[in-house]
Amino acid sequence: MYCYVETLGCQMNKADSERMLGLLEEIGYQPADQPEDANLLVLNTCTIREGAADKALSYLGRWAKIKQSKPRQEILIALAGCLAQERGESIQKRMPYIDLVFGTHNLHRLPDLVKQVKETKTRQCQIYQQPDFEVPETPIIRQSQVTAWVNIILGCNFNCTYCIVPQVRGRERSRSPELIKKEVESLVQEGYKEITLLGQNVTAYGLDLGGKRALTSINLAYLLRYLHEIRGLERIRFLTGHPHHVDQELIETVANLPKVCPYFHIPMQAGDNQTLRRMARIYTAEKYKKMAQKIRAAIPKAALISDFIVGFPGESQEQFLNTCRAVEENKFDACITAIYSPRKGTPGATWEKDLALAVPEEEKRERINYLNSIVNEVVLARAKEVYQEQVTEVLIERENPRNPQEWLGRTRPGKICTFPKDQKLQIGDLVDIKINRINPWTLKGEVAEV
Ligand code: SAH
Ligand code: SF4
Ligand code: F3S
Repeated sequence: MYCYVETLGCQMNKADSERMLGLLEEIGYQPADQPEDANLLVLNTCTIREGAADKALSYLGRWAKIKQSKPRQEILIALAGCLAQERGESIQKRMPYIDLVFGTHNLHRLPDLVKQVKETKTRQCQIYQQPDFEVPETPIIRQSQVTAWVNIILGCNFNCTYCIVPQVRGRERSRSPELIKKEVESLVQEGYKEITLLGQNVTAYGLDLGGKRALTSINLAYLLRYLHEIRGLERIRFLTGHPHHVDQELIETVANLPKVCPYFHIPMQAGDNQTLRRMARIYTAEKYKKMAQKIRAAIPKAALISDFIVGFPGESQEQFLNTCRAVEENKFDACITAIYSPRKGTPGATWEKDLALAVPEEEKRERINYLNSIVNEVVLARAKEVYQEQVTEVLIERENPRNPQEWLGRTRPGKICTFPKDQKLQIGDLVDIKINRINPWTLKGEVAEV
């Protein structure tokens, strides 16, 4: 039997899909290369913006056709992930070809659910409203042989007024440092070189582990030190964090531990204080800037990466320009920009219904285009500052999908770098690369002479 798992959304979902593949293998499913070859199709969805939800629905439409084209074969379609958690039941009602719906909190039940569908020949929908307190341990089939994701914390306790993640991912639950270390150790034994510690809010790691004790010494900095001891591990990254929990201890820990990559994906979201307050981000633009300065003071080449939302309800032209200025001032290494999309059940969605507050669609589009042009300039200037004429370490992850004559890898601060293949090198090698071409989002280079 073959299964095909398609992943939409963030790294969290990518990691979840690897768990689904692991769980499905236990009940006899091998991964298929394309949906047409599978008996079980699983769509792992995202609902961060309406566009993400639309994308999921269009996949389902295509898969329905595959299923219809093979009436004599049993082909099962499963809907999973954040959109399933949010409104899987109503989607299944409208789309009778969906055999199974499960949410983010009961992913580990996948094998039982598939068995139930097959044995009872009935459609199933199981969505837990609350997660189990313990983070379930599951088998995993990973997509890369070099870099691996390791969940350290699930959920988010913030209440940003635009965001649906707390609704679909629940409250924060940290995995124990011991379990994480065990997973990383076995990854290193299998030959993995780089691990990325994953969470919606990794900088809150451990804060829920102290039980009733107000203070716990277990935090992200502690975890980094604890994992740093693992022999053979080359690189550790973490994403994403919240500025509120980035403190001097974390910055110094990253600065002092050679295996920890200087990579800070700490979204700012907006550069205007009033907008930040309305978003409930609990920091000011000035406070964010201080954090950025502390990071760069401790680690001049550290990458600082941010997400930004434009067109949040009530955002004036002037407030939008404050965001543009913040992009310039903080010299981001990369920015992920998005147009605000109202999400049901969030305060922002209520404000968006108020015509006096809602930013017109056309204005939103103009703002994002303008912001993106600034982002491109800032990111290019920063890349030149960090990489011009430099020799830098790259971990080879794979062949460049656009050019089979080249390898593709990442620098320690996370920039993608391609370079001509060299007979002596292979995937998983760390190589020193002389950078000879800098684009805003990628670097090109060649193996440095030793
Ligand atoms: N936990 C991370 C990321 C959450 S979701 C964090 O707190 O930063 C990823 C990104 O999607 C967010 O950083 C935000 O920029 C964007 N996003 C979230 N909700 C959105 C919405 N309703 N409309 C547009 N973008 C949104
Ligand atoms: Fe969403 Fe805010 Fe939590 Fe990030 S910190 S997941 S933006 S609620
Ligand atoms: Fe999307 Fe869920 Fe991630 S809503 S961004 S896949 S946590």
